[in-house]
Amino acid sequence: MEKNQKLSVQELGLECAIVLAEYLAKTDDLHYGYWDSDVPLELANLKQAQEAHSNFLLSHIPPGVKTILDVGSGVGALASRLKAAGYEVDCVSPSPFLNERARRRLGSDTPIFESRFEEFQTEKRYDMVLFSESFQYMKLDIALKHTCELLQPDGYLLICDFFKNPMPDRGPMGGGHYLAKFHDSISCQPLTLVTDIDITAQTAPNLDLTQGFVTAVVQPMKERACELARQRQPFLYKMIRWTLSKPIEQVNKKYFTGQRTGANFAIYKTYRLMLFSKDKTCITAGFLQPSGL
Ligand SMILES: C[S@@+](CC[C@H](N)C(=O)[O-])C[C@H]1O[C@@H](n2cnc3c(N)ncnc32)[C@H](O)[C@@H]1O
Repeated sequence: MEKNQKLSVQELGLECAIVLAEYLAKTDDLHYGYWDSDVPLELANLKQAQEAHSNFLLSHIPPGVKTILDVGSGVGALASRLKAAGYEVDCVSPSPFLNERARRRLGSDTPIFESRFEEFQTEKRYDMVLFSESFQYMKLDIALKHTCELLQPDGYLLICDFFKNPMPDRGPMGGGHYLAKFHDSISCQPLTLVTDIDITAQTAPNLDLTQGFVTAVVQPMKERACELARQRQPFLYKMIRWTLSKPIEQVNKKYFTGQRTGANFAIYKTYRLMLFSKDKTCITAGFLQPSGL
């Protein structure tokens, strides 16, 4: 990231998420937990559920893979698991804040390229390009094309992330590409689907966990703080409410209407682990073409 590049709301969100997760749940993973039905849905069990998510992901790395490009590596938690399992890992991620933490964890023998994936350039070619909850941030067509460029001829693409279901409205939570659009886009690349596992049921509980925290902790604190401000500085309070009425309304609608639940996540999103192998053919609009044409 260039020095003068502005911090995006999305990056700020991820940075706050890791600070909170570290403090409250003693975890430094930035991805959802994979909740087995026998694990009680509690903040104290988030770390265990996130480890289950990482284990699930690792168990789907095909034999023969040695080098991995971890795209959107967060604070390097997954990269460190991959390294411990014997893989050679490079990371690419744009956030200086998260990368600094990743560097501390991974040490100097793991390259961390501070860049958006779409602009990342290297001569290296990888056995696998991995997107763990980072695919949703990518520019779809560019990222898929670039993945193919960075893969060895017989390499793999592994995505573990959520996508949007076709719904008449946007729903209470943003993020993710439309799954149908993703399939359209990937059908133009020399990539063949090997594995497609729907883990929406195991990941949706994360939403109930965060919604529970917002309802039980954040909302009452917010309401009391507003009441204090209204009593102490009624004019200023009114002015702020009036000036920022639109963003305040958006935040209230998004976070404080109790709609960001696991049930709604399962309606509006589908969380998938998808593995693709790079091959030499490309199916475009029903025609089988040699790749590179
Ligand atoms: C939710 S975190 C996932 C972190 C990690 N992969 C994991 O599974 O714990 C999303 C990551 O994607 C990164 N990211 C966002 N936009 C990106 C882009 N265009 N290119 C590469 N990484 C990006 C963020 O900085 C962050 O590190």
